[in-house]
Amino acid sequence: MSIDSTWLRCPNCFHDLEAITERVLGCDSGHRFDVAKHEIVTLLPPRAPRTVGDDRAMLDARAALLASGAYAPIAAAIVAAARQHAVRRPSRSDDGGDDDKVAGSSDDLRIVDLGCGTGYYAGALAAELTGASVLLADRSPTAVRLATRAVPRATGVVLDLWRPLPVRDGTADVAINVFAPRNAPEFARIVRAAGILIVVVPSAAHFTELRRLGATLDVPEGKADRVTEQFSAAGFDLRQTTRVEYLLDTDAELRVQLVDMGPAAHHRANAADDAADPSPIDAQLTVTVSVDVVVFERGSTAGAD
Ligand SMILES: C[S@@+](CC[C@H](N)C(=O)[O-])C[C@H]1O[C@@H](n2cnc3c(N)ncnc32)[C@H](O)[C@@H]1O
Repeated sequence: MSIDSTWLRCPNCFHDLEAITERVLGCDSGHRFDVAKHEIVTLLPPRAPRTVGDDRAMLDARAALLASGAYAPIAAAIVAAARQHAVRRPSRSDDGGDDDKVAGSSDDLRIVDLGCGTGYYAGALAAELTGASVLLADRSPTAVRLATRAVPRATGVVLDLWRPLPVRDGTADVAINVFAPRNAPEFARIVRAAGILIVVVPSAAHFTELRRLGATLDVPEGKADRVTEQFSAAGFDLRQTTRVEYLLDTDAELRVQLVDMGPAAHHRANAADDAADPSPIDAQLTVTVSVDVVVFERGSTAGAD
């Protein structure tokens, strides 16, 4: 199986999961989980709520938008942050010296994408940090399937970011969380001491022009500050905040993709009037993309190692 069970723990009893057979993972308490045909495993806790993450239409819109290169600067910023801040964990043969900075090869680096969607950002990291082991995690089985296609040899897991994660303590060197739910205590538990977490959130200027059309939701001011407070309280130290802001020339089709891949899509689907239509004009429109890429380092006292 292509599932790397060294990432995983049982969602029921939290004991480590191991391969029991070619297609089954299990723990020593006797809980068993089938590996699905697309080499992904569903590890949801008992009585998991019926939230299902992004649906196929949202994922298709996101995949088309990302394939256009519209968010390539965000991917580049994530890769640059990982290159600058990620450190390789000391190998057993090390004599207690400092961790190595990740420069060229990144063999043995362990990267998790929490709320991976189509796997676009994990794919960008895997392409640059070759040899890394990648875990793709999302509540949507369709998303995890798409993501495992985008990132060869990655492990895909369907999980709920709002619940205790079926991921072992201190097992990630790098975690990314891009426009996805944030569970700070759990992220602190799964990122190892001195590992890094890269969180991407929209700034208040994101999609200003679409908001004027009534096509997307407001982003409150100071979102990155609140994220910093949230993760600092969980034991992460802020290392860097980088504003990535640029203008995107959009036609009506691209604007529909921008809106349909995000939370406003739910509102649009439910809207009775046309006010939420992002393409009332055919003309080109320049749209501001503005996000904060926030890099944290996991302190040595947070979570469990
Ligand atoms: C806005 S999308 C971002 C996806 C991806 N990070 C990107 O930027 O392309 C949010 C993602 O979070 C996932 N998601 C929503 N709620 C979740 C939950 N409770 N647990 C895990 N994933 C969830 C959705 O399925 C979706 O893929």
